[in-house]
Amino acid sequence: MKIAVVGTGYVGLVTGTCFAETGNTVTCVDIDKEKVKKLQNGTITIYEPGLEQLFERNIKQERLSFTTDLAEGIKDAKIIFLALPTPPGEDGSADLKYILKVADDLGPLLSDYTVIVDKSTVPVGTADKVHAKIAAHAKVDFDVVSNPEFLREGVAVEDFMKPDRVVIGTTSPRARKIMETLYAPYVRQGNPIIFMDERSAELTKYAANAFLATKITFMNEIANVCELVGADVDAVRKGVGTDSRIGKRFLFPGIGYGGSCFPKDVQALAKSAQDAQYDFRILRSVMDVNEDQKTRLIARVKEHFKGHLKGKSIAFWGLSFKPHTDDIREAPALYNIEALLQEGVTVRAHDPEAIENVRRIMGDKIQYFETPYDAAEGADAIFISTEWPEFRTPDFEKLNTILKGKVIFDGRNLYDLDLMKDQGYAYFSIGREVINGK
Ligand code: UDX
Repeated sequence: MKIAVVGTGYVGLVTGTCFAETGNTVTCVDIDKEKVKKLQNGTITIYEPGLEQLFERNIKQERLSFTTDLAEGIKDAKIIFLALPTPPGEDGSADLKYILKVADDLGPLLSDYTVIVDKSTVPVGTADKVHAKIAAHAKVDFDVVSNPEFLREGVAVEDFMKPDRVVIGTTSPRARKIMETLYAPYVRQGNPIIFMDERSAELTKYAANAFLATKITFMNEIANVCELVGADVDAVRKGVGTDSRIGKRFLFPGIGYGGSCFPKDVQALAKSAQDAQYDFRILRSVMDVNEDQKTRLIARVKEHFKGHLKGKSIAFWGLSFKPHTDDIREAPALYNIEALLQEGVTVRAHDPEAIENVRRIMGDKIQYFETPYDAAEGADAIFISTEWPEFRTPDFEKLNTILKGKVIFDGRNLYDLDLMKDQGYAYFSIGREVINGK
């Protein structure tokens, strides 16, 4: 099948590449000339495990190409995916200007029946708006389908190739059949394609993300209570997670959720509800708690150093909002770094992938190191903000000799409490006993 993907950001590039992988011919369109030039030259513009190999292979096989020309990109395409940004506007609602502009441009360009698919996370009613924009100029039949993506950064290729489910919002039998054929190779294991109307599909995406953000936030609050009453959140997590109605996943407490989706989507759903005259109280609390959670460990840092933070040096392990990505959008690390800088702390940062992205916004306000050990050299403490696997079993013998202070503030609960006791660290984590400290 010939497919066009408009927008070569994170979702667009993964979507385009993965559709090419099963034999479709995909053209990706973007207005960013620099980016398209790079992609045309075979240089991938995002870091995502496993994607580069697929990207290179499909370019070579001439199934994947890039252009800045919308008319050329959508020529003969049976399906056009819109994977455009929907940044939060000032009031928190998703800004649809990019999507509606492309919808406007598409109308006169369609030459045969086409399925236009909203892949971006968009508020309920967007498919209708896109339909109206295209209909204003289109001379041929077309359908607008909502097909939200549920990819997780870091495992996006795997999520795309073997999704838990595919949600397709359309009431058109013709569009349904085309979408079913397109996705058939991805659900061979028996996972469902769930068909529904456009509005329900749009809301499904927000509901899924808001629920997961709520689940994490609930556990963060349980962790905060654990600290106050002397319980261990790890035990509580296992105890509740084994109830199959609750499930083991997404119960890990930490220094808050970040990334490009949860913060934006929770806010946008709360705003959509408000626009519909409904006060989504849980979501207001979720946003509120997450805001506090991000810098909860800072109070511990201040307490430990008895308020004397000026001149201290802290090694920061992890900058990305989660492991296996270089994405730093809404990364809790950045909030903590800012808070420490304000106190006059010297920050020595290490991250396996995200250093360049952080350097771009923080410049030389902090120092950057190639390895976690280089960052830890002479530091008064380590602050862990991302659970990259390489931080899980560090060489403590080495660390013990290079650190100035044997203190760890762990925002991701990486270490066993007994290990910290044995190694003689002052250890502060989330929802667990404080070791060798107050
Ligand atoms: C999320 C959704 O999972 C995905 O389905 C959707 O398409 C986009 O948004 P992503 O933002 O890539 O994906 O990351 P995810 O792995 O879901 O983590 C989001 C945040 O929650 C991270 O900051 C992570 O550290 C945090 N998190 C996750 C926790 O704090 N605890 C957990 O138990 C799980």
